[in-house]
Amino acid sequence: MSDSSRPVRRSLFLHAPTRRAPRVMLERMLALVDDDTPPDGPHGPVAVLERRLAELLGKERALFFPSGTMAQQTALRVHADRRGHRTFAAHPHSHLDVWEEQGYNAVHGLRFRRTGDPHELMRAADLAAIGEPLAAAVWELPQRDLGGLLPEWDDLREQVALVRATGAAAHLDGARLWEAQTYYRRPFAEIAGLFDTVYVSLYKSLQGVRGAVLASDAATVAAAGVWRQRLGGGIGDAWPLALAALVHLDTLADEMPAYREHAIAIAAAINADGVALAHPDPPQTPLFHVHLPVPRQDAERAGAELLAEHGVQLWGRVRSASVPGRCSFEVSVGENAMEFTPDEVVALLRDLVARARPA
Ligand SMILES: Cc1ncc(COP(=O)(O)O)c(C=O)c1O
Repeated sequence: MSDSSRPVRRSLFLHAPTRRAPRVMLERMLALVDDDTPPDGPHGPVAVLERRLAELLGKERALFFPSGTMAQQTALRVHADRRGHRTFAAHPHSHLDVWEEQGYNAVHGLRFRRTGDPHELMRAADLAAIGEPLAAAVWELPQRDLGGLLPEWDDLREQVALVRATGAAAHLDGARLWEAQTYYRRPFAEIAGLFDTVYVSLYKSLQGVRGAVLASDAATVAAAGVWRQRLGGGIGDAWPLALAALVHLDTLADEMPAYREHAIAIAAAINADGVALAHPDPPQTPLFHVHLPVPRQDAERAGAELLAEHGVQLWGRVRSASVPGRCSFEVSVGENAMEFTPDEVVALLRDLVARARPA
């Protein structure tokens, strides 16, 4: 149920539970259960998932974590301890700094070096200007808070090479690596191969329940395993989370290009209409932002009305904007958003903006 009295019937929001009701998810997971295999053994879901993701990403080993927050802080801790430097570089919108209560510092004594302009992607020149020894640099592909922007492949390679030449590690925040891959159109292992450590989420593109995997060489993963235990993440019976992620692992890479095409079609329709602004134009990945010409509170009120009257949800969260009288929300096309035609999204946005504007 939403905070209004009507349940969400249809939603543009990737994580809305419309197609992911517990019974539906459990049935999909049940189809993968093998009653003869111990769930926590070497052939259980966690071990299978770790092996399959290590293979997909071209890394020696992969390790399950209960969350990306724990996996990434752990990766940076291992890189820092090895190198004897406490600073890591990342984009100002890095999840590590914005959404994790600065756990890298509170828990691990690490220092965050904001790198680049908050409204633009990190550039090689930003990294070159750092001028102090780093433990690691972090790339978030795609950069979610910039509407899923990605650096061009050669630019990315140059950035990573520049950082690694200083002895620092390159870490990939690949929470949405499947989305990024639709733009680069290179094998996952080639993208992951640029980086020393790679984290992928089990519940974003993969649409599982929760959890993360950190992939790297065997020694780094062994060191990460020690930290996972110290932080309380060594849960031996994580198999339901792994099973939920395995449900989509076989099909996701084939589905993602269609999600990207649909994102491009929706964004084109929005921009052709002009009631709102889709950015980037065209989207590089299945993820983009919709900027609305109304203040956040008014958009939220109008969105709640649409939900109450029609059972249609447009977003998970509305973001305020530095430009007065504007706000934005994220669209990440997956199973949920595929149910909306571009024209339908435009009609909904028109309705929304009309309701949000004071009479
Ligand atoms: C880009 C990015 N990195 C890391 C995380 C952390 O993942 P978790 O929620 O599993 O801790 C998120 C979660 O939203 C994210 O969007």
